[in-house]
Amino acid sequence: MRIAACTRFGPPSVIEFRTVPDPTPGPNDLIVRVHATTVTSADARIRAMRMPSPTFTLLGHLAFGFRSPRNPVLGSELAGVVERVGANVTTFAPGDRVLAFTGARLGAHAELVRVAKSSAVVKLPTSLSFEHAAALPFAFTTALYHLRDLARFKPGQHITIIGAAGAVGSAAVQLARLQGCTVTAVCRSSNHALVRSLGAQEVIDYTREDWTKHPRRPDIIFDTVGVVPWKTARTALAPAGIFLQAVITMRDVIPMLLTARNRTKPRFKAGIAPERASDLSHIITLASEQKIQPVIGHRYDFNDIANAHALVDSGRKVGAAVVVINER
Ligand SMILES: NC(=O)c1ccc[n+]([C@@H]2O[C@H](COP(=O)([O-])OP(=O)(O)OC[C@H]3O[C@@H](n4cnc5c(N)ncnc54)[C@H](OP(=O)(O)O)[C@@H]3O)[C@@H](O)[C@H]2O)c1
Repeated sequence: MRIAACTRFGPPSVIEFRTVPDPTPGPNDLIVRVHATTVTSADARIRAMRMPSPTFTLLGHLAFGFRSPRNPVLGSELAGVVERVGANVTTFAPGDRVLAFTGARLGAHAELVRVAKSSAVVKLPTSLSFEHAAALPFAFTTALYHLRDLARFKPGQHITIIGAAGAVGSAAVQLARLQGCTVTAVCRSSNHALVRSLGAQEVIDYTREDWTKHPRRPDIIFDTVGVVPWKTARTALAPAGIFLQAVITMRDVIPMLLTARNRTKPRFKAGIAPERASDLSHIITLASEQKIQPVIGHRYDFNDIANAHALVDSGRKVGAAVVVINER
């Protein structure tokens, strides 16, 4: 099979194609033929070993390797078809359409991937194309974790979303609207039509206007970019508001701990979104019922995957950068 290998930590040009033997399933594994995957902000971070802080760079090297990634195949989400299953796998069979996270193994930037049955992997209805489905997991489970699990968002709340046109931001806009919240989307003017079409009632171009001067102080600020300091969020929020920071650094631990208990004052919340099969099923249901839509800003053939990395590096990605490996 062909893989897109990250040969060392560095720029997009470190991605090289190789042909390697097809994977074989362990007793608890599925082998999935990948039809569509994505290059996410996380893939680009690992490829470049560009972490939010020096401590995370050290942790990144410990997790992924020191000179080059231990597993050279990046890619954390995929839509495809089960090709083989291990002896202990009873809930999936060859031919099943699936949507999966690969977990810490990554490996989705390949024609075939080994997925543990304990990973977040669920069946994919035919109503969703592989391309559309592949754009859902990373974006929507991250947005769901922050808004639902950390902030416990409620109908009627006002949410300001920084980076509203990115993968996580565009998912957050949709989930917030679905929950009955009012959304202010912060992104460049070129993305205003998109975020309005996703439901945002107000839009602010951060290159021209200061969103913190908005007359109504939001109940939740969700920074999906990592550009809002806590002291800015604290003063912009409603009195008992919640600041969600998707890009965590060690510096954030102190305000998180200090604000955790007092519910009458602004609180700082951050965490790592878990990969759960139940969330994937929930998101598939919402997408099948057309309550949410995947935002595919960019589509690449497998051969062009390095260009998808370059796009993510540019900071101008809109929604997901989907990579089609197998058209069908
Ligand atoms: N905590 C977790 O569990 C978790 C999970 C997943 C991702 N993350 C993190 O979340 C971050 C976002 O991920 P993503 O995949 O959504 O990123 P992304 O799609 O690459 O985001 C790109 C978007 O960021 C916007 N942007 C860039 N600079 C901005 C600024 N100064 N102000 C407002 N918007 C700006 C751009 O919009 P404009 O062109 O309109 O500026 C672009 O559309 C990543 O750093 C990732 O590491 C965290």
